[in-house]
Amino acid sequence: MAISRKRVGILTGGGDCPGLNAVIRAVVKTAHNDYGMEIVGFKDGYEGLIENRYMNLDYRSVSGLLSMGGTILGTSNRADPFNFPVLQGDEYVYLDRSSQAVLNFEQLGLDALIAIGGDGTMSASAAMAKKGIPIVGVPKTIDNDLVGTDVTFGFDSAVVTATEAIDKIHTTAQSHHRVMIVEVMGRYAGWISLYSGIAGGGDIVLIPEIPYDLECICEKIRDRNASGKNFSIVVVGEGAKPQGGDMVVAKMVENSPEKIRLGGISHQLAAQIEGITGIECRVTILGHLLRGGVPSAFDRLLATRFGGDATHRVANDDYGKLVVLKNNEMDVLDLQFVAGKQRLVTFDHPVVKAAESLGVCLGVPEGLSIADYVEKVKA
Ligand code: F6P
Repeated sequence: MAISRKRVGILTGGGDCPGLNAVIRAVVKTAHNDYGMEIVGFKDGYEGLIENRYMNLDYRSVSGLLSMGGTILGTSNRADPFNFPVLQGDEYVYLDRSSQAVLNFEQLGLDALIAIGGDGTMSASAAMAKKGIPIVGVPKTIDNDLVGTDVTFGFDSAVVTATEAIDKIHTTAQSHHRVMIVEVMGRYAGWISLYSGIAGGGDIVLIPEIPYDLECICEKIRDRNASGKNFSIVVVGEGAKPQGGDMVVAKMVENSPEKIRLGGISHQLAAQIEGITGIECRVTILGHLLRGGVPSAFDRLLATRFGGDATHRVANDDYGKLVVLKNNEMDVLDLQFVAGKQRLVTFDHPVVKAAESLGVCLGVPEGLSIADYVEKVKA
């Protein structure tokens, strides 16, 4: 064991997902076994660092965490230290609390911080790194929309849950000869809809990156009925929109840095499909089900590798980095590089190509390439 006297903070920020606890466990165990480092867990993301709310994480405290969903530390998707919401009277005012966070970090005698989170947490972490906090980031999100990593942990578990749901929806679709629409999360990226749609055998898969053409969706449904397959499964990402139309906003969360919450496109789609085809439609919105439950084996392994690698980076004073998976190997990227960027589905992605070869309707009219169609509808 390479003895290190380091004291390291850890926090989980943004929406929760399966695998967060597995990262915490990997960090604590690796820190203890390989280096003799101490770990301090901040509660509710950056909020805990700003408000000095924390717990000591010793070896025994992480026992049994590998398969547990959520995060034992709690999380927050509104705790941007530079734009921190504080209720004054009936209204939120936004204050820069980043210096308080730095002060607490120093007063606790910490040497480094491991920040587990998505885009929002990484943007905040990049800015905190500029303020002098030695940070290593770990990429999480069910949406899989962080740049620079092949995959984020949480995504696979969400796809597994969505696929199981689509499998179950199939039986009612078949029995009642209906169009069943399954709406999945994913924000502005179509990774969950694409992967679960293809894994679940969806007939129509709609992703935010391709504004869909309603007529070709209805044609696909009619064709299936004409060929004797009198049911259809539509998988739609919450950020999908019709060509010339808008995304459906479920609500605005005023005190959140990312205020828009999407949801409900499936109801709009169901009404339109029923109106045009006369075929009965039903809607299932999976929502937060995709963020819950036990992590898949893939996510447990990925989370364990990320947590271990982040700890090794800290031991080697390799800061200002995000640990990532590149061609199945651990790698790192500059935190500043990933901040504020989004990784969307590309039209030449192998799973998009597979969907086309399978005859899955992606909302693109027959005879047009996806790129040409998207170009045309944007013009
Ligand atoms: O980023 C993860 C995610 O679950 C998105 O897929 C979804 O749009 C959003 O968070 C929901 O946020 P909240 O939990 O605040 O409703």
